[in-house]
Formats: sequence, C-alpha cells, structure tokens
Amino acid sequence: MLEQFLETSDEWITERTGIKERLVISSEKLEDLAVIAANKALEDANLKASDIDYIICSNVVNEYVTPALSCIIQGKLGATCPTVDINAACAGFLFALDMADDKLNAKKAKNILIVCAEEPSRMVSWQNRSTSVLFGDGAGAAVVTEGDALKAIRLTTSSLTEVLYYQRKLEPTPYISKEENFEPLVMKGREVFKHAVTSSCRDIRKLLNQTGLEPDDVKYYVLHQANLRIIESIRNFLGVDKERVPHNVDRYGNISSAALPALLDELNRAGKLQKGDKLVFSAFGAGFTTGACIIEWAK
Ligand code: UT7
Repeated sequence: MLEQFLETSDEWITERTGIKERLVISSEKLEDLAVIAANKALEDANLKASDIDYIICSNVVNEYVTPALSCIIQGKLGATCPTVDINAACAGFLFALDMADDKLNAKKAKNILIVCAEEPSRMVSWQNRSTSVLFGDGAGAAVVTEGDALKAIRLTTSSLTEVLYYQRKLEPTPYISKEENFEPLVMKGREVFKHAVTSSCRDIRKLLNQTGLEPDDVKYYVLHQANLRIIESIRNFLGVDKERVPHNVDRYGNISSAALPALLDELNRAGKLQKGDKLVFSAFGAGFTTGACIIEWAK
C-alpha cells in the first residue's frame, strides 16, 4: 500500500526496520482504542472503574490540546478519580510507572490506571518516506497496585530537541511578530538510532548493576519497539538470546509509548509470565527522554 504513493519498497522497510505491518487509525478515534485497552486492563486486574484512584495517560498527540485525553477516557470508563496526561514521548510508560510508584508509596492511591494511547500517524507527513513508514497507532494499558514489584527504575532527560520533533500549528494572533514554523515530524534517523542504542544499553546496564542481576537472570527484555535493528543491537550488547528479547514491531511498527504495555500484554496473554520472573523495560523517545526499570512479575 505504501509503495502506491511513496518511493519505497517492502524490501527496504523490512530490511531497515523489520516492520511488515502497522495499524493506522481511520474512522475510529484514539480515545476508542484507549478505552478498549483500559477496559481490558481493568478486567485483567479484576477491578471496576470505580476502584481506580488515579489515571495517568501517556500521549504525545491527539485531536484535543485541551481537555487532556485522560479526561475523555475517564468519562468513557465511568471512573470518577482525578486524571492527568503526561508527554515523555515514547518513554511515557516508564515515566507514568515512576509517578504511579510515588503515589502508591505515598499512600495517596491504591490502584492506578496507566493508559498509553498514541497516534503518530497524525504527526508524520505521508509524503515523507523516511518517517511515515515507521509508525503505527495503538494503545496499551496497565493497572498498577500496591506492592514491591518495582525493583529499580531510572529516568533521564537530555535536552536534544533537534533530532526528533513535531510542531503543531497554532492559531494566529494580531500580535505575532516572530517567525513560526509548523513542520510535520522531523527526525534525524541515524542520530536517533545511535542515541537509542547507547542510552538503552547504558540504562539497562546500570539497573542490572544496581540490583546485582546478571543479564541472563532476566526472563524478558521488553524494549521500545521502534526498529528491529535497534532491538537487535541492544540484545547483542547485552549478550542475551533472542528468546529473551521479544518483539512485535513487525506487526505494529512504532506505536510510541503504547509499545511497552502492548508487548507486556502479549506476553501475559500468551501465558509466558510466571510469578517471580524478572522483567526489564527500556524505552527512549523525543526529548531525548529515556526510561528503564526492572520489575518482578507478581501475579
Ligand atoms: O521512537 C523513536 C523514534 N525513532 C526511531 O527510533 C528511529 C531511529 N532510526 C531508524 O530507525 C533508522 O535510522 C531509519 C529506519 C529511520 C533509517 O534507516 P537507516 O539505515 O539509518 O537509513 P538512512 O536514513 O541512512 O537512509 C538510507 C537511504 C537514504 O538514501 P541515500 O541517501 O542513501 O540515497 C534514504 O533516502 O534510504 C533512503 N530511504 C528510503 N528508501 C526507501 C529512507 N527512507 C526510505 C524508504 N524507502 N522508506
């Protein structure tokens, strides 16, 4: 389909990214995907919307600037708790997890719903073959509850805005005198690739050292799904087998912060997670933001 309007080929995309398919929003709305994911997470956690004390929604772009997407999701779920949106780009799930952990530790909440909902297909120019072939739309959600499953977490931001950005068009005013640019997603692919591999490896290595774990003590490395070559580079650096580094980038493309909860859900539903399993999460995104953590599966 992409070959019909872009100078590209299935061969190029497969070879350079590992992506074979992606799902793109057409008539549905992003909040529809978010609510489906959220309801599945609630069902899985055996909780009702009224049991949720706080909703954190990780989102880069949706059709509203305000209200926050989490407000729309809350209403559709029938929840009554406070909600907030965060934007830490593709690392959003880890930033949300860190916030949730703080709230749980402070005893301000017992059950927190994290919903990551993203439609990067609306940020890229579909005339730009370098970006449009990489992304898909999607949502993933998780319920986080009290406990000591989170063994270590690390977040970083290093202001490196020029390698990956998207500028939204703002309304004109009679007073604007500065020059304004409104560009679809701009990405310096090779630079992002380099930063992605370096930072993810650094974060994971630090967390393994901090917790005294060896790479093979980890059952699965749930890595951001941006490019299979990035995933493979990180895997090689860690020196672990392919089975420990699952991926679904071939089926969804890069769905931004939704990638981690979506992949976790696939592992869980496939019955691949056992109580006591150690899992590493690692993601990177525009900013440059990075997040990584180690959890022990508690179910
Ligand atoms: O969530 C975080 C967001 N982003 C990422 O993680 C992306 C990180 N970067 C990447 O995944 C890779 O850099 C890309 C997949 C974006 C690009 O792969 P690459 O191996 O770094 O290729 P490149 O950008 O160096 O481009 C190689 C060639 C260029 O042609 P020339 O200059 O060698 O003639 C591009 O114009 O491939 C060309 N090209 C394409 N050709 C066919 C770029 N996009 C396409 C395309 N189809 N879709």
